[in-house]
Order: sequence, then structure tokens, then C-alpha cells
Amino acid sequence: MPIQLKRLLILGVVLVSIFLILKYLMTPESFGQYGHYRGKALDEVAAYPTKYVGSETCYDCHDSIVLAKSEGPHSGIGCESCHGPGFKHIEDPETEKLDKPNTRAFCAHCHAFNKARSEKAITQQNILEHNPEDNCTECHNPHQPQQ
Ligand code: HEC
Ligand code: HEC
Ligand code: HEC
Ligand code: HEC
Repeated sequence: MPIQLKRLLILGVVLVSIFLILKYLMTPESFGQYGHYRGKALDEVAAYPTKYVGSETCYDCHDSIVLAKSEGPHSGIGCESCHGPGFKHIEDPETEKLDKPNTRAFCAHCHAFNKARSEKAITQQNILEHNPEDNCTECHNPHQPQQ
């Protein structure tokens, strides 16, 4: 074997060994327990406090709004996408008020003209020209906006 190849071979073996030692030292203990991730990460994520409770939870106390929304074009949007996380509110509705996003800018998030959005997916308005004097909710019911 030529001398330069021998040296390269030794260097290769040394580098691979260093890699294997570092991998051994730096891999977290529970890695690979269930799959290609840390097994302990599951417990850590499950320990985060719940914030969103789902639109079904709102039915108990706001059934008329849930019903109105389910019949209109906003049926696909969850209550909490507009009102924010409801976890605290359902425990204590009187003190834990939810946001009422009653501004033109809020509706504009989804309905302002945006070339990247398809007109078929969402109706868009020129917010600067479409009744600029009033709040959107003066004329559109946010839960049943066709009325
Ligand atoms: C598209 C955004 C949007 C969605 C989705 C939405 N809301 Fe609202 N909601 C609003 C806005 C904006 C107001 C404030 C209306 C106003 O002040 O005239 C409001 C007001 C309310 C109010 C206060 C009472 C009232 O009628 O003004 C309640 C209660 C409410 N929403 C519950 C819900 C529930 C329950 C859901 C799910 C079934 C829901 N909302 C879904 C935007 C939304
Ligand atoms: C246990 C009954 C209960 C549940 C469940 C409930 N609410 Fe309410 N909600 C109320 C009451 C009562 C009020 C009126 C509070 C007041 O005016 O003091 C209210 C008021 C509201 C308001 C007006 C702003 C405010 O906070 O006063 C919004 C918006 C609202 N609820 C949205 C929701 C959404 C969204 C859900 C589901 C995630 C939900 N609520 C679930 C009882 C409930
Ligand atoms: C999270 C995105 C989102 C927000 C926020 C939102 N909308 Fe919508 N809206 C939609 C989608 C999706 C539809 C159903 C597709 C469509 O018809 O454009 C819709 C439908 C509508 C329609 C009926 C359009 C039609 O062609 O019949 C009106 C009117 C409307 N929204 C008004 C509002 C108003 C007013 C607000 C603010 C209170 C608002 N929207 C907030 C997503 C949104
Ligand atoms: C003064 C009342 C008024 C205000 C304020 C208003 N709108 Fe409208 N909007 C209408 C009327 C009436 C129509 C139907 C005729 C038209 O297309 O202009 C309409 C149509 C729409 C449509 C298309 C729905 C369809 O069936 O074609 C959308 C989306 C919409 N508005 C969103 C908004 C948003 C978002 C705001 C606030 C930024 C807003 N509107 C403010 C009265 C209003």
C-alpha cells in the first residue's frame, strides 16, 4: 500500500472514531425510544397548559351563535381563530373576557386584496374603498356575514 494512502486511512479511522465518540456523548438519553426523536420530548410537550378548547365547547353557552355560524360562509373558521384561546373564559366567563376583534384591520387580515390568494378561495375587497367610514360589523354580522 502506498505510504500516502496509509496516512489517509489512519486519518479516516481517527475522524470516524471522534465522530462516534461525540455522537455517543451528545445524543440525549431518550433519543430513539419511540422513533427518530427524544422520547422525553413527548412528556415535555404534553405538560404545556392547554389554551384552545375547540368550538364545540362554546356550544354549551352560545348555542345561537354556534348555529348561526354553522349556516354561513364563516362555518369553516373556529370561534377561537377570531376570539383567541378560550381556556380561561370557559372556566370563568364573567371575569375572563375574550377579545372582540371589532376592527376593519382584523377582517382585512383575510379579506383584503392579496394577489397570492385565490378569489375562489376567499372573497376579497378593496378595504380602502369598500365603505371606509364604518366598521365592517356595522353592516356584516361576523358570525353570519351574508346577512
Ligand atoms: C370571523 C371572526 C369571528 C368568528 C369565527 C367568531 N366570531 Fe364571535 N365575534 C366576532 C366579532 C368581530 C364580534 C364583535 C361584534 C360586534 O361588536 O358587533 C364578535 C362577538 C361575539 C360575541 C359577543 C356577543 C355578540 O353577539 O356581539 C360572542 C358571545 C361571540 N362572538 C361568540 C362567538 C362564538 C361562540 C363563535 C363560534 C361559534 C364565534 N364568536 C365566532 C368575530 C368572530
Ligand atoms: C360556561 C359558559 C360559557 C362557555 C362554555 C363559553 N362562554 Fe363565552 N360568555 C359566557 C358568558 C356568561 C358571557 C358574558 C360575560 C359578561 O358579559 O360578563 C360570555 C361572553 C363571551 C364573549 C363576549 C366578550 C366577553 O368575553 O365578555 C365572547 C366573544 C365569547 N363569550 C366567546 C366564547 C367562545 C369563543 C367560547 C368557546 C371557546 C365561549 N365563549 C364559551 C359564557 C360562556
Ligand atoms: C380567518 C380568516 C377570516 C376572517 C378573520 C374573516 N373572514 Fe370573512 N370569510 C372567510 C372565509 C374563508 C369565507 C368563505 C369564503 C368566501 O366566501 O369568501 C368568508 C366569507 C365572508 C363573507 C361572505 C363572502 C361571500 O362571497 O359571500 C363576508 C361578507 C365576510 N366573510 C365578512 C367578514 C367580516 C366582516 C370579517 C370581520 C369581522 C371577516 N369576514 C373575517 C375568512 C375570514
Ligand atoms: C356600510 C356598510 C358596509 C360596511 C361598513 C362594510 N361592508 Fe362589506 N358589503 C356591504 C354590502 C352592501 C355588500 C354587498 C354589495 C357589494 O359587494 O358592495 C358588501 C360586500 C362585501 C363582501 C363580498 C360579499 C359578497 O357577497 O360579494 C365582503 C367580503 C365584504 N363586504 C367584506 C367587508 C369587510 C372586510 C369590511 C370592513 C373592512 C366591510 N365589508 C365593510 C356593506 C358593508
